[in-house]
Amino acid sequence: MRGKFITLEGIDGAGKTTHLRWLEYFLKERGETVIITREPGGTPLGEALRGILLDDRQVMHAETEALLMFAARREHLDKVILPALSRGTWVISDRFTDASFAYQGGGRRLSLQKLNELECWVQGEFQPDVTLYLDVSIASGRQRTSNIKQADRFEKEQDEFFRRVREAYLERAKKFPERIRVIDANQSLEDVRRSVEKSIATICA
Ligand code: TMP
Repeated sequence: MRGKFITLEGIDGAGKTTHLRWLEYFLKERGETVIITREPGGTPLGEALRGILLDDRQVMHAETEALLMFAARREHLDKVILPALSRGTWVISDRFTDASFAYQGGGRRLSLQKLNELECWVQGEFQPDVTLYLDVSIASGRQRTSNIKQADRFEKEQDEFFRRVREAYLERAKKFPERIRVIDANQSLEDVRRSVEKSIATICA
């Protein structure tokens, strides 16, 4: 049987990594074979592109940024995601195409039509089985990233950029309510876990 594809999304500092590890543990406990991967990245070429995309010394056109995100994604689908799903392995990806609509579409104000065309080119009709969007306020996202490490090219953006990113995520969630579950990640860890569990219940059945 084909594996399931779960993606996690959120603005920087939403706490994806913590919840992703727990979700992996939860699914493994249920007896699933699970791999964790991320975007941009997940393959040697994708990780090299990630290095360029996150490097704050790089200056690039917003369309170049979008093209590199989708180039990494093409490779990721071909080398990691699709082969794993067809082996029956579940794939949890830390970000996928919704991030391009939120960051390049919302944040950088790139044409949604161009992003739709890239999406269609790179993945056709393929979509995650479920997407967990961890929603936090801009202030708490900012607080978590400033605690962690030195800011990358995206984390260096102003609050206004993240406000547009968050709005774009919420717009996408409204557009695809069946696939994208909005989880209030300002709640306690236990409450977020309960919401995550509830959100994946339909695909676990
Ligand atoms: P991460 O640090 O959460 O792994 O994500 C890397 C950064 O890349 C994050 O700031 C969001 C950004 N990003 C995009 O702008 N577009 C995309 O399509 C993806 C996958 C990530």
